[in-house]
Amino acid sequence: MFTKTHTTLLTSLIAMMLFAFIGTANVQSVTEHNARNNRNDACEIWEDEESYFEVCEDEDGYYEYYEDDFGWYEYEEDANGNVLYEEEGSWDDEGDWDDEDFYFDDEDYDPNDDGGYIDADDDFAAEQNYDDSDLANNSLGKSEATPGAQPWMVAQVDANESNAYYGQGCGGSLIAPQWVLTAAHCLEDTSANEIDYVIGRHMLSSNEGERIGAAQIILHPGYAQTDGEDHDIALVKLERPATAGTPIALVTDATTHLDNPGVIARVTGWGQMGENDERYPDALFGVDIPLVSQATCKAQLGDDAIQAGEICAGAPEGGKDSCYGDSGGPLTVSDEKGGQALAGVVSWGDECGAANSSGVYTRVTEYNDWIAQNMR
Ligand code: ARG
Repeated sequence: MFTKTHTTLLTSLIAMMLFAFIGTANVQSVTEHNARNNRNDACEIWEDEESYFEVCEDEDGYYEYYEDDFGWYEYEEDANGNVLYEEEGSWDDEGDWDDEDFYFDDEDYDPNDDGGYIDADDDFAAEQNYDDSDLANNSLGKSEATPGAQPWMVAQVDANESNAYYGQGCGGSLIAPQWVLTAAHCLEDTSANEIDYVIGRHMLSSNEGERIGAAQIILHPGYAQTDGEDHDIALVKLERPATAGTPIALVTDATTHLDNPGVIARVTGWGQMGENDERYPDALFGVDIPLVSQATCKAQLGDDAIQAGEICAGAPEGGKDSCYGDSGGPLTVSDEKGGQALAGVVSWGDECGAANSSGVYTRVTEYNDWIAQNMR
């Protein structure tokens, strides 16, 4: 579909010529443009000092975003080529912007030619995306996890993307050598051959641990019945037992005190750094968050929104939360024997890190039986 419609980039040429005259540019950062909550789509990014261009394509459709010092353009279409969204704008409030500032012409765009831009898959990635050094500075209280300290942590990766950094869309927990527990919404409309799990790895872009394909996906039947509102839990059987990693025990009906309100739980993942902070770490990050009672959570997010099968975690003042890309991953608590037990699965939230707005997790104790019955 790269041969399709639109595309660029006379604007950047004009921009570069202008910069030659006016000197240093006030380069806009890329924020808030990508409405999508996951990175399952295959994206390519071209970037230089004056502009940013991103093209994403997967079985659900096609997406592109362009911006430079003058403005931005965003376009999205579904798998059938129907335009879902097309919008452009100027950074300049004075309004000297008009449509003619953008030229879209197929011939200007050759996906095989970097054309002065840096390909996301090589240099740009190495220099930018993989640089985790400033990520400790984030609005969710996340910090780099201790490598190897949560050996049940797995990454769900697009099977077509060899680099797990680009392919990661969700997290998961190894609960038996051949079984991953994750969120149903991570696997909606997904077949087993489309995903792999990376096990025993800290840096996504590394080759540490192992990568195993999914053999079978089991969504909780209640998930579809409630339109994806509740029962956000799924089991995935791996093609073979993992040898890297260590499964985590579940919090069970016999140990429900482990996830009482007030207990400090820990969530880990490779998700983004803030509601509008789309930096994704290469290293596994984590944050410790107090568990919240059902009553408090219902008061925050709505009586009907919070079900018995959900458990909430958050600080009243905000600033401690999971976020987009962490879904499916583990919320763990101390098992009182020096280890950890699985209390929740990252599911949803209102706004990452907001005050009086807990993150919502699928409550593992409510699904003990369903898990036991389906894991065979
Ligand atoms: N649904 C998100 C995902 O797919 C997880 C959102 C968690 N949000 C929160 N505020 N804790 O990755």
